[in-house]
This record gives sequence, C-alpha cells and structure tokens, in this order.
Amino acid sequence: MDTSVAPLIEQLVDTDRYPLARPDSPAWAEAVDRVRRDLDGQGCSVLPNFVRSSRHEDLRREGAEMAPHAHYDVETVNAYNIPTDAPLPADHPGRITMRRRNAFVARDHVPPDSILGGLYSDGHFQRFLAACFDLPEIHELADPLAGLVLNVVRPGMDHPWHFDTNEFAVTLLTQAPESGGEFEYCPGIRSAEDENFADVSAVLRGGGTDLVHTLTLRPGDLQLFRGRFSLHRVTPVEGNTDRHSAIFAYSARPGVIGSVSRTRQIFGRVLPEHLAAEGHAVRGDQLLD
Ligand SMILES: [Fe+2]
Repeated sequence: MDTSVAPLIEQLVDTDRYPLARPDSPAWAEAVDRVRRDLDGQGCSVLPNFVRSSRHEDLRREGAEMAPHAHYDVETVNAYNIPTDAPLPADHPGRITMRRRNAFVARDHVPPDSILGGLYSDGHFQRFLAACFDLPEIHELADPLAGLVLNVVRPGMDHPWHFDTNEFAVTLLTQAPESGGEFEYCPGIRSAEDENFADVSAVLRGGGTDLVHTLTLRPGDLQLFRGRFSLHRVTPVEGNTDRHSAIFAYSARPGVIGSVSRTRQIFGRVLPEHLAAEGHAVRGDQLLD
C-alpha cells in the first residue's frame, strides 16, 4: 500500500470519525462494523459527512466543472436489466418498462489529481471499502472510461427502479438538487430464493409504499450499497440545480472492462482498450447499474 497518499485522506476525509489510514484503530473497526451491520440488514449504509464540510464546496465545484462533459442517452429498460422484448409471463414485472435517461462523465474527464480521482485510487480508501464489503481486496476497473464517473441528473430527469447486476456500489454526492432526486430503496424485496414478483410489481406500479425507504443524501455523504436484492431508484430532480454524484466502481476481481456495445451506449464512444479486450475480457457489462 502506498502510504504517501495519507495526506490526501487527512485533508479530505473526516478522519476523526473515519480514520482510513489507521486500520488498527478502534474508530476504524467501529466504522467498518457499523457498515457491515447496515449492509447485512438493509443492503445500504451511509457515512455522513465522510468528506469534511470545509471541502464540500471544492467537491461541488469539481463536479460542476466536469458535468458539461457528460454523455446523454435514453434507453427503454425494465427493472431487471434484461431485454425488454424477452419472452416473459403476462404478470412478470419485467414486462413493465421505463425510460432511463443516462448522463455520465467518463473517467478520462476526471483528472487524477482531483479530489475524486485521488480518492478513487487511494489505497487506504480501497482497503476501508474492502473491509466494509467483507472482501479481502477490491480492484479499480481496468476500464479507462468507467470505474470512476460522475452521474448527472438534471431537473426533470430521474433514474428509474432497478436491481443492480454488480456486486456493490459506492457513491458520493457532490451536489444536491434543490428538491427531489432522493434515493428510494426496498431493502431485501427479493432474495436468491424468492423473486417476490408480487411486491416488485406493486412498487413498480406506484404502490407498496410501506416497502419503500427514502434516503436524502447530502453533499459529502458516502453511500455503500448492495443492490442485487434491493429494488432502488433516484426520484425526479426538481428545481433548477442538477444532482451530481460520483460513482466509485470497483470489482472483487482485477481486469474488469466494459463491452464495446455497452460502453458506446453509456459514453458515446469506445477506446482502443475496449476493442482489444472484446471477447476475452473479464465480464464487465452493466458496470454502472
Ligand atoms: Fe443501481
């Protein structure tokens, strides 16, 4: 591990509560234990004010400067990330389709010496996250466009209900909207043994409100999430301010790179690394789900 990057952590992260560079300290173990309990119980954990409040404006400005580089596209999707024309029984919730408007700033527009770039590559940060997810280690994606991205949700846009296909997600809100743009999720609405189509359908049709938890994230809050069994969405953003959140994507295995087709859809372009890896890469579709 590169200990020379500790100063970045010290000046950026609230190290009294989250002493990332001191994994032997009681506070480190306490934070990790709490996240693990939250993830086991709810699939979701928030570390409030993970980034020091004195740095929130720097973080917001950094995201806002990158945001014009976002690539926009619209897809028709269902909650399961399976083709919308897949043959499914009439009452299957996968038949309920939604419009998904994506806008992502790719990693190559995030400078390595930025707050977000520094945090993503920081060994202490990665070690802490691995412990939180109960993994021996985590790896940055090998993908030069995914891996670290900024998600931009403009007023009127949302991110509709879905389950994740990736193992875990780490996000950091850099700019909050005036209103709306809330993270809603249904903890454990399905399991490996039971798809629970009845409740999933109810939520997709606007019901099942007793199953829906709402999380209002604030700038600087770090969110750790397991979305395979917890249906979730971001509600429409209201007002005049974009919602910006950084997505730190890691994987349990090294070498993950997105497919050519998915990369082109999400970012509007591919790089030689995607073409070279096509056909023999570690599976990397749906990296951003
Ligand atoms: Fe998701």
